[in-house]
Amino acid sequence: MEHTYRVVVVGIGPGSPDYILPVASRTIAGAKVLVGSKRALDTFGTPNQVTRIIDKDIKGVLDFIECHLASQDVVVLVSGDPGFYSMLAALRGHFAAERIKVIPGISSVQLAFARLAEVWQDASLISMHGRKAADDVLRYRPGHKLGILTDTQHNPSHIAGILLAQGWPDNACVWLCSNLSYDNEVVAALTLAETTGTPGFEHSVMVVKA
Ligand SMILES: C[S@@+](CC[C@H](N)C(=O)[O-])C[C@H]1O[C@@H](n2cnc3c(N)ncnc32)[C@H](O)[C@@H]1O
Repeated sequence: MEHTYRVVVVGIGPGSPDYILPVASRTIAGAKVLVGSKRALDTFGTPNQVTRIIDKDIKGVLDFIECHLASQDVVVLVSGDPGFYSMLAALRGHFAAERIKVIPGISSVQLAFARLAEVWQDASLISMHGRKAADDVLRYRPGHKLGILTDTQHNPSHIAGILLAQGWPDNACVWLCSNLSYDNEVVAALTLAETTGTPGFEHSVMVVKA
């Protein structure tokens, strides 16, 4: 009987090998074909694996996976958890669910809330990494809590300006969490007003609570 190979999407967690599941490490070590960001391949890949960097050419990446899938499983590394803003969405648009196996990882958002000893069951989890967020998601409601993925354009200073315009108070608590799990991890506590004048923290998790 012909074997059907699968795309194995592995969540590598926030970055440090300390925060990856043992099953994910074993899957990566056993992979013949590995796809991921340059940083993920540098950290988790081994020299004898066939690799493909995930770049802006998503169609090229999907074609590479499709081609290798004819003869073996293809392991795709994504940061954090695959279910939260990752390449999994594009893969599900291309391959049937039965052809995809997902190994979860610790999301950067989970680690950010853990660092603050805050629950996230009552938070709105939002990505502004390469996208906007709807006004109603960002609008102030007393007791509301946000966990936001940031990027270069939608950086914390820019997002703080949007939140003030959406009625959040000047003194709302903000935590900016960068390089989570790495030696150079930073968790900075500020007010929302202070955040408008704070540069950097691109590619971070921004937690806001009033
Ligand atoms: C494409 S999203 C991927 C999210 C990922 N699937 C997750 O669950 O964390 C990339 C964004 O995740 C956040 N991120 C990923 N790793 C991070 C880390 N180690 N520290 C802080 N933020 C991180 C940043 O906001 C970055 O812009």
